[in-house]
Amino acid sequence: MACVMSDAEATTSPLLTARDIQKIYQTEEKTLTVLSGTSLDIQSGDLLGIIGASGSGKSTLLHILGGLDRPQSGQIFFKGQDIFSQSNGYLEKFRNRSVGFVFQFFNLLSDFTAIENVAMPALIGNRDQKQAKKEAEHLLERVGLKERLHHKPGALSGGECQRVALARSLINKPDILLADEPTGNLDMDASESFMELVRELNRTVGQTFVIVTHSQKLAQSLDRTVLLKNGTISDVDRDIVL
Ligand SMILES: Nc1ncnc2c1ncn2[C@@H]1O[C@H](COP(=O)(O)OP(=O)(O)O)[C@@H](O)[C@H]1O
Ligand SMILES: [Mg+2]
Repeated sequence: MACVMSDAEATTSPLLTARDIQKIYQTEEKTLTVLSGTSLDIQSGDLLGIIGASGSGKSTLLHILGGLDRPQSGQIFFKGQDIFSQSNGYLEKFRNRSVGFVFQFFNLLSDFTAIENVAMPALIGNRDQKQAKKEAEHLLERVGLKERLHHKPGALSGGECQRVALARSLINKPDILLADEPTGNLDMDASESFMELVRELNRTVGQTFVIVTHSQKLAQSLDRTVLLKNGTISDVDRDIVL
């Protein structure tokens, strides 16, 4: 298997490709193979779900797709480039500019207001402070939090926190948004309104999403769902009862 993409392959390639990813966790007691030759193509504009049992390696795969963790072997290609074999600084830039992350427990900074949390990735990326705040305000309006700009996370509901996290993940206009069980900590109403926002962003601006979930209902509301089982990926018919 070639470890680079040919020029022809790269120009027609998906937005993000995982090729033969192997991830092994080595602890004192045992060797745990979590991903054993996992491959996945994500096209621009996809609204893709990854399902799988608890412990099947969904978070591990998502972290590797977003360059947060490295596999023992295999490649992640972003727009045809192997993200783990680029020059210094590429990976940091990829994580900050090209990918947005949403986590189950929001990961907001508790001492900062909603608008400051949302602006943070833009400031880390050295963008103009005033412009970043303006964009943060616009994004918070977009996710329905116009009246909560100056609230800190402690004064927001779970559903509101996750919408702040979604706005934060969008501020650098990522090519791809990776969400790890984003509704896992929300009640049904908040989950549904969060997913409605996701679908709307996908529909209106073509935002690409990869959403890890163990919710069958959520998976069925997406365009395509893949199953991670025994370290490999397979497509699932989303009408199937899991
Ligand atoms: N840093 C680590 N060291 C050792 N084992 C780990 C580590 N991270 C995850 N694991 C193990 O790898 C497996 C997959 O974990 P994870 O990707 O979090 O699964 P999922 O998100 O599908 O629940 C689990 O059995 C977990 O205990
Ligand atoms: Mg997980």
